Amino acid sequence: CRLKGRGILVKCLQKVDPFLHRNIGTDVVAAREERHGCKSLYAVQAEGQEQAERSVLISCHSRTNEKKFLKYISRHGDIKKYFFYESYGLYAVVEFANRESVASLFEGAAIPSVSHESMVPFKSRLLSLRNIGLADSTNQQSGQQCQPQTPIPINELIQRLSKEESIDQQITSLTDVYQLTQENSRLRFLVCSLLKDIAAAYFPECTIKPFGSSVNGFGKLGCDLDMFLDLDGISGRNASMPKSGLSLEYQMKRASSERAVTQSILSVIGECVDQFGPGCVGVQKILNARCPLVRFAHQPSGFQCDLTANNRVAMKSTELLYLYGELDPRVRCLVFTVRCWARAHGITSSIPGAWITNFSLTVMLLFFLQRRSPPIIPTLDHLRDLAGPADKSVIEGNDCTFVSDFSKIQLQSNTETLEQLLCEFFEFYATFTFSRMSINIRKGKEQNKPEVAPLHIQNPFETSLNVSKNVNATQLDRFVALCQESSWLLQQSETNAPRGGNKEKASKPWGLATLLLPSQVAGIKSRKKRKREPASERIKSLLESLKNTNQQQKS
Ligand code: CTP
Ligand code: MG
Repeated sequence: CRLKGRGILVKCLQKVDPFLHRNIGTDVVAAREERHGCKSLYAVQAEGQEQAERSVLISCHSRTNEKKFLKYISRHGDIKKYFFYESYGLYAVVEFANRESVASLFEGAAIPSVSHESMVPFKSRLLSLRNIGLADSTNQQSGQQCQPQTPIPINELIQRLSKEESIDQQITSLTDVYQLTQENSRLRFLVCSLLKDIAAAYFPECTIKPFGSSVNGFGKLGCDLDMFLDLDGISGRNASMPKSGLSLEYQMKRASSERAVTQSILSVIGECVDQFGPGCVGVQKILNARCPLVRFAHQPSGFQCDLTANNRVAMKSTELLYLYGELDPRVRCLVFTVRCWARAHGITSSIPGAWITNFSLTVMLLFFLQRRSPPIIPTLDHLRDLAGPADKSVIEGNDCTFVSDFSKIQLQSNTETLEQLLCEFFEFYATFTFSRMSINIRKGKEQNKPEVAPLHIQNPFETSLNVSKNVNATQLDRFVALCQESSWLLQQSETNAPRGGNKEKASKPWGLATLLLPSQVAGIKSRKKRKREPASERIKSLLESLKNTNQQQKS
């Protein structure tokens, strides 16, 4: 871990801005510290993977008695951490102190025999525990406490926010309830590790790492699990191999391109997941996408999974987003808030299409923070200039170099509050010249659009690509209309004042909660527009959105 502990970050924040650390997001910082201890993403990944290797996932009887369960399982070794959760039944994640305990558990486990089904005898670390006297027989509440793996519904969130005393508190409270819990994060690493066991049938030394919002600091409970099959450790792509007269022919089977290799690897792994992956359902191989992937649902965890390979640029953008989120606590709070606001108004969607994606929205927010005066976060070019020789990274001709030592980054003393920034964000995009300008976090300045597209956001690393190529004019118009409305709402004194006082008023939505209520303008506007549009236009836009769905890429 190159980051020398959280002390440095705190000191550096206090040095530039004592106000900042005292007033903004201290709860969120504390929660984050508890989860990550402010490590580099590399260290977070390594720790998560190592814990997952020592862990098992156990499907339990719904009335399992926690004490009896622990006593039974700990016969195989010391348990370091465990928790229960519900997803189509009760599950327990158990992390042993040593890997040998997993082997011991396997030794005692039976391969079930069911009369009308035949089993593929693949030994997975997903086990199920028969009722062997560990469940409470009566209807009494069993001891275990389940850890939530999904976010609270929006209505509950609105009520909760309405009870806060300031918009700043509303924003930190939203972040608090939406961010991934330590348990959810462990479950994500465990699912990657279970998948790795399957992929290891072909590539024994492979690893599967989570990327995207599962680890970049912006993940909301319930977000998808993006996974990256990493074969670099085997291929030696990044390692300096000793020069010998021998080369490994079995690894060198020729293919026409790297893409073709990725496709064939994902094709066999996808097949394996489909045939032998316990709990993996609805496996789809989407190999012709720009970034080939295998998509499936992992039922025991409830995660929607996207498995990719050779997607090293996306790994870099994950690292970059993580870094920005760690630099200043306001970044994560605002990303969570804007993502939640966008979802509440249908600006983003879980279905791929012509909508703005969370990734695009995050880049837009980062750009806005770079445009503050003084800027809250540095440009990517600046981060590249601070990089040391070990940070150099060129992937498929793209310069992905940026500094990894956070302590080299000097932040400027911007003291704007979360409330001010949120309001300014809406104002900024309500008046942005989308028709001519492109959003560019590398330069931290808008650039002339290099191509025609309603919304142009330069991909930070593959600079010739537009991150928001899929977005159509209708969706962009809705976004702008909602920014205008939200900016207006935040400037109204009646929205802005906490409705404290008597009990009845306390739960009336105010501040941020008002912004999450159904919109007055965007719905009406888009409905009117739809009425005016001739059928041919609607079909054209539908076709366009279908086309964009196919083009949606992960690079
Ligand atoms: N990514 C990218 N370029 C894109 C789309 C995605 O580099 N055009 C990378 C980003 O690092 C992103 C990751 O792929 O974080 C995963 O993409 P996606 O699942 O779409 O976004 P998330 O950030 O994971 O957000 P969500 O919570 O919506 O899944
Ligand atoms: Mg994702």
